[in-house]
Order: sequence, then C-alpha cells, then structure tokens
Amino acid sequence: MEPSGTKLQALVFDAYGTLFDVHSVLSRCEAFFAGRGAELSRLWRSKQLEYTWLRSLMGRYAPFSTVTREALAYACEALDLELTAERMEALMSEYGMLATFPDVVPAFSRLKGVKKAILSNGSPDMLEPVVAHSGLALDAVLSVDELKVYKPTPAVYALAVRKLNIGKERIGFVSSNCWDALAAKSYGFSVFWINRAGAPVDRLGFAPDRIVAGLDEILL
Ligand code: LAC
Repeated sequence: MEPSGTKLQALVFDAYGTLFDVHSVLSRCEAFFAGRGAELSRLWRSKQLEYTWLRSLMGRYAPFSTVTREALAYACEALDLELTAERMEALMSEYGMLATFPDVVPAFSRLKGVKKAILSNGSPDMLEPVVAHSGLALDAVLSVDELKVYKPTPAVYALAVRKLNIGKERIGFVSSNCWDALAAKSYGFSVFWINRAGAPVDRLGFAPDRIVAGLDEILL
C-alpha cells in the first residue's frame, strides 16, 4: 500500500548511502592506512555531510567533488594519517565505483510502472561514473549542482517536482539518510526511510511514512 493513499508516479532516490555504499571506500582506506580504514571512512563521510550543511548556511556552495576532497583532507589530518596526492586521487576515484547495495537491483526490477530518478548532492562529475558503474536504469539523475545549494534546503526537493513534472503528492522519496528523508517529508513527499542499520528516527518534528529495512521491502 502506498504511503499517502495517492498513486505514486515516481520514486526519487537519494544516491549516497541509499543506492550506493559510501563505505565501499573502506578497503582502499584500509590498504593505505592499515587498522584505521573504518575510522577514516566514518569521519570522511560525516565531515562530507557537515561541510554541505555549513556551506549551504554560509551561502558558499562548492561542488560535492570539492567538498568530498576537503572532507578527506580534514579527516586524514584529524586522524594523523598521511594523505599523499596519489592516495587522494585513489580514494576519490573509489567514489566512481561504489558498490550498489544488494537490495537495489532486485527492487528496481520489481518496482515497475513508476519513474525512477536520483536526487543527489553529488555533482554530475561524481554521479555519472557511479551511475554508469551500477548499470541502473533511471529516468533522470538530478543534481543539486544546478541550484548551488545542498539538501535539506526545500528548493532541492522542489527540483525533482519541476524536472519530473509530477506533483509532490505523487512522488515517493527514498533515502537511508534519516535527515534527508525527513526533509523530503517536510517538503511534502511520501517518504520511505531505508533503515538498514536499525537506527532511531531523528527528532526533527516529522516521521517517515514507511520505515523499511531495505529497498526490496518497498511496496507501491
Ligand atoms: C546524497 C547524499 C545526501 O546523495 O547522500 O544526496
């Protein structure tokens, strides 16, 4: 049963953490910094997100590729790990080959009759290779880059409505990032929160319409 009682015409997916596993950089991190890979991967991701929020609030947009590099540089310095130019390039190139979570491909082949799109913080130069690598069939890949502001600004979610030309009440938004899911709910989408880790819901005044453990549990 669909969350809103209204037939959904499109599913809009977050990219990083939802379709693509950002922690697939871990083995390369571990190869460079034995025993510190998990720690580095976690701090890199958390700084990457923090920098998107800070830059949006400051009105100082820089593309996600820049933010991701700066977050990696910070994380390595904070953890006292030596980041050579070569390691930086190798770790950044991992973002073009992130693993697609195992529940994604079966869910995509089952979810028929709706448009499928990505709405991501990722800049086009980062999204293009990872989408091609995944082989997923998508009707649109939308990047915040054309707005020069990051999630969770409402204008980002409005971009999907405008580009897909589908009303927000007919769009289902799918994210494993709870803050992103709740921002999409606040904007007016029907929301599926993919809670693979069994985490608590963020306290932001909203609840997702559906909480599922994987994309394969999404029912339309
Ligand atoms: C994205 C981040 C939030 O893909 O994961 O937009």
